[in-house]
Amino acid sequence: MSEPSLALTKDSLELLSLATKARDKAYVPYSKFRVGVALRTRSGTVHVGCNIENASYPEGWCAETSAISAMIMASDGAGSSEIEELVVVAEHSQPITPCGGCRQRIKEFGTPETVIHSADLNGIQKSFTLAGLLPAAFDLKAEE
Ligand code: THU
Repeated sequence: MSEPSLALTKDSLELLSLATKARDKAYVPYSKFRVGVALRTRSGTVHVGCNIENASYPEGWCAETSAISAMIMASDGAGSSEIEELVVVAEHSQPITPCGGCRQRIKEFGTPETVIHSADLNGIQKSFTLAGLLPAAFDLKAEE
């Protein structure tokens, strides 16, 4: 499923740095599991997010969701809400990938080619396309 051939660019490394900084803001008193995300849109804007938990555990949300929210609030048309590339970073024994719900949220604003990098504090560990992480995705639009 991982696609190591996906190229890492200067842009990917900038996203990694921003995601790592966003991770510092994580509000995680319950899991203590900090996650940061940075994403770049087709128009070149960059948005970040962290996970935000809640005493009523299911009410917390993921870093990916926070970053998508920031993207939508800043969007002004012309590709500014289309996700091209995203980095998710956490400190974990294996590369972290977006949960199922967040894969569907990324799909809402991405394409099958959207690149998702999984990183830890040592750097990007694995890279995927959205199609690789969410095959046969749900889509309300009827197929032509
Ligand atoms: N989490 C994220 O923010 N992003 C992911 O990709 C996976 C999990 C968060 C949710 C929760 O706050 C914590 O990590 C532990 O599950």
